[in-house]
Amino acid sequence: MRIAVAVVGALCAGAVLAQDAPKGSAERGKKLFVDLNCYSCHGTHGQGGGRGSEPPIPLGYPWAGFLQQLRKPRLDMPAYEEKLVSAQEVADLFAYFSSIKAAPAAKDIAKLRTF
Ligand code: HEC
Repeated sequence: MRIAVAVVGALCAGAVLAQDAPKGSAERGKKLFVDLNCYSCHGTHGQGGGRGSEPPIPLGYPWAGFLQQLRKPRLDMPAYEEKLVSAQEVADLFAYFSSIKAAPAAKDIAKLRTF
C-alpha cells in the first residue's frame, strides 16, 4: 500500500512538473507589466525596489510558481483573478520574464573598469 501511495505521488508530482507554460508573447507581456501596474511594486524590469520592499522577480522563475503567485499570492501581493488577467495574459507576462537575460558581471563591463 505504501508503495502504491508513493508511486501515485511521484506520478502526480511528475505531471505538475511536466506542465509546460502555455505559449505567450514577450512583447505583449512587457506591455502588460506596465498596464497592470506590476512595475509600481516590482520595478520597471522586475528588479524589485519599486515602491519599497517588494522583491525582485528572480530570473528563471518556474511557470507553476508564477501562475500560483498571480492567482493566489503568498503574502501581500494583490491577487490577479482570471476575470482581471486571462490565462493568455499570464502566459504573456511569463514569456516576458523568461526573455530577460542576466546582466553581465560588473567586471565584464568595460566602462566600469577604472584601472
Ligand atoms: C501592490 C504591490 C504589488 C503589485 C502591484 C504586484 N506585486 Fe508581485 N509581489 C508583491 C509582493 C509584496 C510579493 C512577495 C510575496 C507576496 O506578498 O505574495 C510579490 C511577489 C511576486 C512574485 C514572486 C517573487 C518571488 O521572489 O517569489 C512574482 C512572480 C510576482 N510578484 C509577479 C507579479 C506580477 C506579474 C505582477 C503584475 C501582474 C505583480 N507581481 C504585481 C507585490 C506586488
